Amino acid sequence: MIFAEKSGKYYFHYPFPVAIVGSKWDNSINFMSAAWHTQISFDPPLYGVAISPKRFTKELIEKSGVFSLNFIKYDDYKISGFVGRTSGKDLDKINFFGIKYIKGKKLDVPILENAVACYECKLIDSKTYGDHILYVGEIVGIHYNENEYKDGISDGLLLYAGNDMYTKSENTYLVKFGKEEVKKEIDKRKKL
Ligand SMILES: Cc1cc2nc3c(=O)[nH]c(=O)nc-3n(C[C@H](O)[C@H](O)[C@H](O)COP(=O)(O)O)c2cc1C
Repeated sequence: MIFAEKSGKYYFHYPFPVAIVGSKWDNSINFMSAAWHTQISFDPPLYGVAISPKRFTKELIEKSGVFSLNFIKYDDYKISGFVGRTSGKDLDKINFFGIKYIKGKKLDVPILENAVACYECKLIDSKTYGDHILYVGEIVGIHYNENEYKDGISDGLLLYAGNDMYTKSENTYLVKFGKEEVKKEIDKRKKL
């Protein structure tokens, strides 16, 4: 094992699902890619996303207090590049790239038309950590395409591998190892 005290960029835990963050304020509608996001709580359902203060998205989320998190398929990886390598400060990404969206059911947030799943989030907290701001949203609505999910997971979900490289969750092999299976192992070991 190599040990590094400081690594600069660290992507050793990748790949990570790409979340396309949708935001809207006034006449501005925008999407950006995010790889730094996480589920935080089941009850209430909370989700966090780390966004640099340089992003146009930051302004829109802070003004509107709402955002959407869209999960897309590998086949749509160009959308991630389009919205993740251009800023809404310089470009109307929706019109330029012809990105299709619908309006949220509960919140005034844009939802990607080809998302396999989307969380509508109401901002409940934000805190700066280092060079990013962690925005925590309460999920007030979930959209998902039931045809895209089998055994709770979506095959072919777009994952980010770092350095502008993408991959997918293909032919995901499932192995069950939960409380019951652990108990069996414990009993087996006890008998030894
Ligand atoms: C795959 C991918 C993942 C990214 N993840 C993040 C992230 O988690 N947080 C962040 O602040 N920027 C992230 N970015 C960069 C933003 O998406 C990018 O700076 C974008 O241009 C911001 O758009 P905006 O200024 O319109 O908000 C990512 C970019 C890509 C391509």
